Amino acid sequence: MTEYTVEFVGTDEEITVSDKETILSRCIDEGIAQEYSCRVGMCLACSAEIVDGEVTQPAARGLTDEEREQYALTCMARPQSDLKLDRGKYPPSIESDVVRREQADDGAAADD
Ligand code: FES
Repeated sequence: MTEYTVEFVGTDEEITVSDKETILSRCIDEGIAQEYSCRVGMCLACSAEIVDGEVTQPAARGLTDEEREQYALTCMARPQSDLKLDRGKYPPSIESDVVRREQADDGAAADD
């Protein structure tokens, strides 16, 4: 087992996470306010941008292959190096879903 330092940019928060546990699991144990919902790699609520470092997250089904290089789903991601993560940053696929939903809502409101 190897332990790595995970630093959350823009905060004073830093935790130690082994390569055998998920980042979210350690956040919960340490009282870090990391958002999450499904805990199975689908909803993207626990997403963080990878500023520096590497993770393994083969079960992060909510991300495209390209997004897995830039974003960590902390409920699935295990560190493979020291990390810097920016919590609350979401991949483009979810951002475009939000825009589509907002546009659909605006259209529905205009029909009222
Ligand atoms: S909590 Fe849903 S993808 Fe991580």
